[in-house]
Amino acid sequence: MIVHITLPEDWAAARNSGQYLASTRGVTMAAAGFLHASEDAAQVNRVGSALYSDRPDAFVVAMEEEALTAAGLHVRREPSDLHDPTSPLFPHVYGASVPPMLMRPIPRRAAEARVLREDDPKAQHLLDTGWSVESTSWGARLHLGDEADLSPYTCRVQDAEERGLCVRKLGAEDLVRLEALDGLVAPDFPHTPASHHDPLPADLSARIAGGDARAFGAFHRGELVGFTVVVQAKERWEVDRTAVDRRWRGQGVAQAVKASSVLDTYADGVRVWGTGGAAVNTASRRMNEALGFVLEPFWLALVPPVGWREYAESGPGGMRIES
Ligand SMILES: CC(C)(COP(=O)(O)OP(=O)(O)OC[C@H]1O[C@@H](n2cnc3c(N)ncnc32)[C@H](O)[C@@H]1OP(=O)(O)O)[C@@H](O)C(=O)NCCC(=O)NCCS
Repeated sequence: MIVHITLPEDWAAARNSGQYLASTRGVTMAAAGFLHASEDAAQVNRVGSALYSDRPDAFVVAMEEEALTAAGLHVRREPSDLHDPTSPLFPHVYGASVPPMLMRPIPRRAAEARVLREDDPKAQHLLDTGWSVESTSWGARLHLGDEADLSPYTCRVQDAEERGLCVRKLGAEDLVRLEALDGLVAPDFPHTPASHHDPLPADLSARIAGGDARAFGAFHRGELVGFTVVVQAKERWEVDRTAVDRRWRGQGVAQAVKASSVLDTYADGVRVWGTGGAAVNTASRRMNEALGFVLEPFWLALVPPVGWREYAESGPGGMRIES
């Protein structure tokens, strides 16, 4: 990995044009013929102190040499003073301008993520200033009209029942088993800044009794193998979580319990449902799309870039570097 110090304005221009045109501060790639880079924190310190001491917002981007080579560029180690062969060697990237997708802002260590929708102008502004996407999550909505065809939902429940499962609404007496299964599958929930497993609401029993939460489960020979919990959220019902015992996944159990929750709440006049999860949770997304949930714009967990000075002091060892 080699690194380069960039300015937010150069980074924003590169994101907009798809080409990183700067070579170093105040010098274009066209004028220099190559992109200036650094090997390590010591070189970043040297370049930063010489050129960016008045710009604490200048940040560090990483480049993988193999990726640069694969893109037809090449890295040469050359004296920092081209007229003095004894001056220290720095990496220089030759070829066309480097596509910004091959330059990855290095996130600041332990920085707290900001979660914004991808179509929020604030998200685009942060990305322009070197923030990067740590993880992505999705939200989805299901809208059904008054005369909706409910057969896809009844079919999902029937399919599960034909396979020997009993799908039904859960009552207070089922909550101990629901909690046990939730605890068992907790490690399987993706853990990202915007999506993770939380303990079940402490007042779930009271909320179920009060009617603003409902739970549905699938049983096999009396054993709870999957459940969904939905809660009322103003004009819609929101899925709190859905989980299936590992041994029963990929067999339509989640779809059956969710279909059951849709049928039950629909009968009481509900017409809009919401759900969401981590982008990496393909099974959850597929299961929801199969039930008619439509994806909304993604949510991005954004983390700030490391400034050149902090990088110079800590080096890559102290940074959070993602593959
Ligand atoms: C997400 C979860 C509830 C899905 O349960 P499930 O009973 O396996 O889901 P279903 O069988 O009803 O549907 C899963 C769908 O995803 C597909 N799928 C499953 N695993 C997949 C994977 N790794 N990649 C792509 N698709 C996958 C299935 O083929 C199915 O789609 P299909 O009906 O088009 O064939 C289950 O994996 C789970 O409990 N995970 C841990 C808890 C969790 O992450 N919950 C979601 C957040 S609330």
